[in-house]
Amino acid sequence: MISKYNAKEISVNGEIFEILIDEETIQKRVAELGEIISKDYEGRIPIFIGVLNGSVIFFADLIRNISINCEVDFLKLSSYGDAKISSGNVKLIKELNADIKNRDIIIVEDIVDTGLSIVYMKGLIQSQNPNSIKIVTLLHKKEATKYDIKLDYIGFQIPNRFVIGYGLDHSQKYRNLRSIYALKNS
Ligand code: IMP
Ligand code: MG
Repeated sequence: MISKYNAKEISVNGEIFEILIDEETIQKRVAELGEIISKDYEGRIPIFIGVLNGSVIFFADLIRNISINCEVDFLKLSSYGDAKISSGNVKLIKELNADIKNRDIIIVEDIVDTGLSIVYMKGLIQSQNPNSIKIVTLLHKKEATKYDIKLDYIGFQIPNRFVIGYGLDHSQKYRNLRSIYALKNS
């Protein structure tokens, strides 16, 4: 067992992580985002594009709060390797399967850090001529963002700290935590 549900602190390889956003707060905000997006896209059938692996938990909760018809697809990028700091390289590991031409696209991200991944994905999706592209991210590290990007829906602004849980990993682990934890003293 790695931790009790919603423990205040957890120990990860000798480092302490403290709770930053608890499960209840996340769920409340995800429901709000779902409601707002459903209203904005009324009468349309958007395609939600999840960015693997980090966005899966947020993605699954978000689309269950969408009350209009929608479709889903996934992209997979790699940018971090095992490091806690963005390597500045983005690689496409899995392409889209959906035909997105003339469709309304909503990119679903777990976190926008430097912004490089989003810039790369927006370019990639734009090149397939959708009708529109919007971005929803659960977390935004505003201070760390180096690219000029418009984030249409943001769950939470967070400080420039390393976080895990609710889809976010540390060397591929801890995605299954229900709350979001930040490295203590980071
Ligand atoms: P960006 O390209 O620098 O914006 O980085 C975005 C990606 O890096 C996210 O989709 C995450 O997968 C990962 N990432 C950024 N910050 C963190 C963090 O604090 N914890 C875990 N993963 C992160
Ligand atoms: Mg990611």
